[in-house]
Amino acid sequence: MKRVIKKHPLAIRWFHWINFPVVAIMVFSGMLIYWANDVYRIGWGNKTILKFFPDSFYKALHIPFRLAEGMSLHFVFMWLFAINGFVYVLYLIFSGEWRLIVPNKKSLKESFLVVLHDLHLRKSAPPQKKYNAAQRIAYTGVIIMGLGSLLTGLSIYKPIQFHTLCTLLGGYEWARAEHFILTILFTLFFIVHIVQVILAGWNNFRSMVTGLDVLPGAKEIFLQPVIINREKEPNQFTAPVIKISQHETLQNETHQHNVILEEKKPAEEADKTKDASDLKDQLPSNENKPGDTEDSNKL
Ligand code: HEM
Repeated sequence: MKRVIKKHPLAIRWFHWINFPVVAIMVFSGMLIYWANDVYRIGWGNKTILKFFPDSFYKALHIPFRLAEGMSLHFVFMWLFAINGFVYVLYLIFSGEWRLIVPNKKSLKESFLVVLHDLHLRKSAPPQKKYNAAQRIAYTGVIIMGLGSLLTGLSIYKPIQFHTLCTLLGGYEWARAEHFILTILFTLFFIVHIVQVILAGWNNFRSMVTGLDVLPGAKEIFLQPVIINREKEPNQFTAPVIKISQHETLQNETHQHNVILEEKKPAEEADKTKDASDLKDQLPSNENKPGDTEDSNKL
């Protein structure tokens, strides 16, 4: 039987779904403004490999001659972007959710393994909690990028009033280029994010809408027998440890659930060892525990 557990708190879902249209409007209105003075390109000397943006691109998106509209949209929605982002970060801090999203010291190494797994070059992905290492790096990165967009944006919006900030960012021209680069990075994040959401599947997407995650059935729960020597550890549980999914461990803030199936006396030690190894043979291997399903490792 499938089990349904809570995955995303309501607040996170609100912040996330408010952020999506707001970022989309910020990027589009930013392009309406940029069109009026489109200075950036990739190239050297007179050689241009890529111009931001080709005329065909502007025309296809009906961008030309909408500077005023772009500015008014940009300067209204920047407040929503800033307030939503600020309250989201406060929520992450005070709810403790930041622990699930901020990378830890293993994340960089693990993110390579996640990428190899996603490219089907590695069989198993490293164990994870709510998000895998690559997600932690990407999501924390995008939060920092949001802050960067606000700071660079402020310094080109009011370069006189925020002249200290503007100087710290390298002056007006640099701040503008940084603002532009951050927008490109936001767009790249968005493309990769959407591809990963599609690959991770419906259940993953639905969990960001409903907050609930549907987990594999009880028969797929991974049982790990624990063998205890009663003479050495008289007070230890004589119970197998049932490792439930990462999601469930997350809910319970513990990493494993001890379930006592039956107490055994020291004299039964030999039998117990045999029982445990028999049990182990009947169970799926460590690599197949439910928390490591394709779904939860994809993003
Ligand atoms: C159509 C647009 C989008 C869709 C369908 C979408 C979907 C999702 C889903 C399904 C998750 C949960 C991933 C998981 O549980 O493994 C997620 C998380 C996240 N997404 Fe998006 N997303 C969209 C747009 C965006 C945008 C525009 C941004 C930022 C620029 C963004 C930033 C994030 C972040 C930071 C998280 C982690 C949230 C947290 O737990 O605090 N998303 N997204």
